[in-house]
Amino acid sequence: MANILVIESSAKLNGYSRQLVAEFIDQVKAQNSDHEFVIRDLAHDPVPVITDDIVDIIRTPPDKLTEEQRHKTAVSEQLIGELKAADFVVVGSSMYNWNVSASLKAWIDQVMRIGMTFTYGGDGVVGLLGDKPALVVLARGGSYDSPQRAARDMQKPYLENILNVMGLDATFAVMEGHLMGEEIRDANLAKARDVISSAAKTLA
Ligand SMILES: Cc1cc2nc3c(=O)[nH]c(=O)nc-3n(C[C@H](O)[C@H](O)[C@H](O)COP(=O)(O)O)c2cc1C
Repeated sequence: MANILVIESSAKLNGYSRQLVAEFIDQVKAQNSDHEFVIRDLAHDPVPVITDDIVDIIRTPPDKLTEEQRHKTAVSEQLIGELKAADFVVVGSSMYNWNVSASLKAWIDQVMRIGMTFTYGGDGVVGLLGDKPALVVLARGGSYDSPQRAARDMQKPYLENILNVMGLDATFAVMEGHLMGEEIRDANLAKARDVISSAAKTLA
């Protein structure tokens, strides 16, 4: 039995990232009905953006936190608890203005915590999630397949970086180019589905 955490962040109920994440879940369930899914829908149940009263607390190592400080950061601790409890993490991300959605960024700001999800070692940052496997489903209307276009992409490099810093070993399924014609859309959908099917098989 695996505990699978699913993070949804598209504002659109029938968007590509949600459709592809749903296909992944269906495939995993068809192979093994023992797995458990925790769904965290950030677009429809947003987590708070960090505010003045907690900004210093979330930069404090956990062993230095008082009970009162822990109480104030209960949301952050709950979200980190979900990440730590997961054996596999799925992230659905829509590109908005060349980056992740604000709802996903708010979640990232809550879970990126020194001493909880990452720390500093001699060579820089060290992830604390133990190279947990993750599938990231990206959806974006344009294509980012040339150096000029890729230079505008702040979504994939950002998620590669941030998930790696926390110690998640992420595979990316990229559904891009649906605004650039049916041929491009269909070819990229097929590629994204291949990645999703391969990832689902790892949970058989
Ligand atoms: C507010 C907004 C901003 C967007 N910005 C971009 C963008 O900068 N680049 C791009 O390629 N597509 C952009 N798109 C298109 C979406 O990335 C695309 O429709 C994608 O499929 C959305 O994800 P979803 O299908 O999971 O909802 C934007 C869409 C919206 C609604």
